Amino acid sequence: MHVSFASASLIGLSCLSTLTSAVPFSFANDPTGEGYPTPNAQQVVQIETQAHGSLPNGPSPSSVSSDTVTSLQLIAFNEIFETAFFSSLIQNVTNNVPGYGFNATYQDPIVETLTVIRAQEELHTLFANASLIALGATPVQTCAFMFPVTTFPDAIALAIKFTDVVLGTLPAIQQLLAVSGDAALIPGIGSVIGQEGEQVGGYRTFLQMVPSALPFLTAGTREFAFSALNQNFIVPGSCAIDYINLPVFEPLAITSMAPIAAQAQTLSFEFPMAANGSTPETSSYSLVYVNQQNLPVVEPLQNVTASPATNMMQFTAAFPYNGTTFGNGLTYALVVCGPTENLTSAADVAAITIYGPGLIEIN
Ligand SMILES: *[C@@H]1O[C@H](CO)[C@@H](O)[C@H](O)[C@H]1NC(C)=O
Ligand SMILES: *[C@@H]1O[C@H](CO)[C@@H](O)[C@H](O)[C@H]1NC(C)=O
Ligand SMILES: *[C@@H]1O[C@H](CO)[C@@H](O)[C@H](O)[C@H]1NC(C)=O
Ligand SMILES: *[C@@H]1O[C@H](CO)[C@@H](O)[C@H](O)[C@H]1NC(C)=O
Ligand SMILES: *[C@@H]1O[C@H](CO)[C@@H](O)[C@H](O)[C@H]1NC(C)=O
Ligand SMILES: *[C@@H]1O[C@H](CO)[C@@H](O)[C@H](O)[C@H]1NC(C)=O
Ligand SMILES: *[C@@H]1O[C@H](CO)[C@@H](O)[C@H](O)[C@H]1NC(C)=O
Repeated sequence: MHVSFASASLIGLSCLSTLTSAVPFSFANDPTGEGYPTPNAQQVVQIETQAHGSLPNGPSPSSVSSDTVTSLQLIAFNEIFETAFFSSLIQNVTNNVPGYGFNATYQDPIVETLTVIRAQEELHTLFANASLIALGATPVQTCAFMFPVTTFPDAIALAIKFTDVVLGTLPAIQQLLAVSGDAALIPGIGSVIGQEGEQVGGYRTFLQMVPSALPFLTAGTREFAFSALNQNFIVPGSCAIDYINLPVFEPLAITSMAPIAAQAQTLSFEFPMAANGSTPETSSYSLVYVNQQNLPVVEPLQNVTASPATNMMQFTAAFPYNGTTFGNGLTYALVVCGPTENLTSAADVAAITIYGPGLIEIN
């Protein structure tokens, strides 16, 4: 029997979410049953069988630039998070956790599909990690993870968002590999970009959206991805992160009611005040959006207010959606400090970012 993931649609949901105190996810008790993240050779074959394919078996580069090591560490760090996410999702669906309940007709094919995807993510991690070990660099350790969702459709919508972040980050990494003279790694990274794109097409179809979101997907940076992972999914202090030479920006929350509508509007944002309670000088701040492969869009911060009781700063800013040059698919929102007149790329924006990224996803 084969019921496709797509045909299961939303109608299989049996329960509304209930409030549960979320227990962080960890790999401590071998939830995959494959010894992940340190499978032995036999367990790797088991993962490859589930993944419908194998790790690349050709030689890997014997030396790369230190910047390329950082890229491989970020890739492994992200992929182990994705493996954790799909492991938690499989557990929830398998155990009919409230918000994740399906009858057997739907449950089996959904678990089957998610198990293939998880195994593919495991191999992505193992490949990046094995490359780091072969290069004598620090491999990636696992963390404790949390996921800000409690229903199956919300989990799939979240998977779209974090995979869209990856889809913008890997091309940025390809460019850095080229600049560093490590071009041999570029095709392998490209194969993963396509693979993650196939995943998002499946998730979008499942949520009854057009499979492909945009003609040119939104550009990202390693800094945006590393910040988003640490701000949203990693239990703080559960693992070392400082061996990865990337910044974690202060968070920027979008406080407007989700989902953000596909129209021009004013959005509300919030970011933390300094730990000592001092109010930052926001006159040199701007809000910058990055969407598709287009020039960053700069907006002034308006109505800036400080809430000492919560140690947060609030502001509003225009979101000049027009559905072509700006607004569909993934948009990054960043608070920057510095001149904005010559920003032409996501990397230019990352270089002056202090708060972010806020992640906006419009269908
Ligand atoms: C399973 O759930 C779906 C969606 O609610 C429903 O259409 C289908 O008839 C159910 N199948 C069984 C065997 O109960
Ligand atoms: C990477 O390799 C190290 C060393 O074998 C291991 O401790 C770690 O768990 C691995 N991490 C992943 C994500 O595979
Ligand atoms: C699994 O369910 C728990 C309990 O509701 C929830 O905290 C967690 O975020 C869920 N995991 C995923 C990936 O949806
Ligand atoms: C408070 O912290 C901010 C940011 O770290 C710093 O710029 C400022 O000088 C500090 N103010 C005081 C009064 O210590
Ligand atoms: C700023 O606040 C004032 C007073 O609450 C309100 O009338 C105005 O619409 C706000 N402007 C923006 C851009 O949010
Ligand atoms: C859409 O909005 C962007 C950002 O404000 C702007 O640069 C672009 O010219 C607009 N495009 C159209 C067709 O209005
Ligand atoms: C922006 O570019 C123009 C033209 O090259 C240059 O004159 C100006 O100094 C630049 N501004 C900043 C802040 O770099």
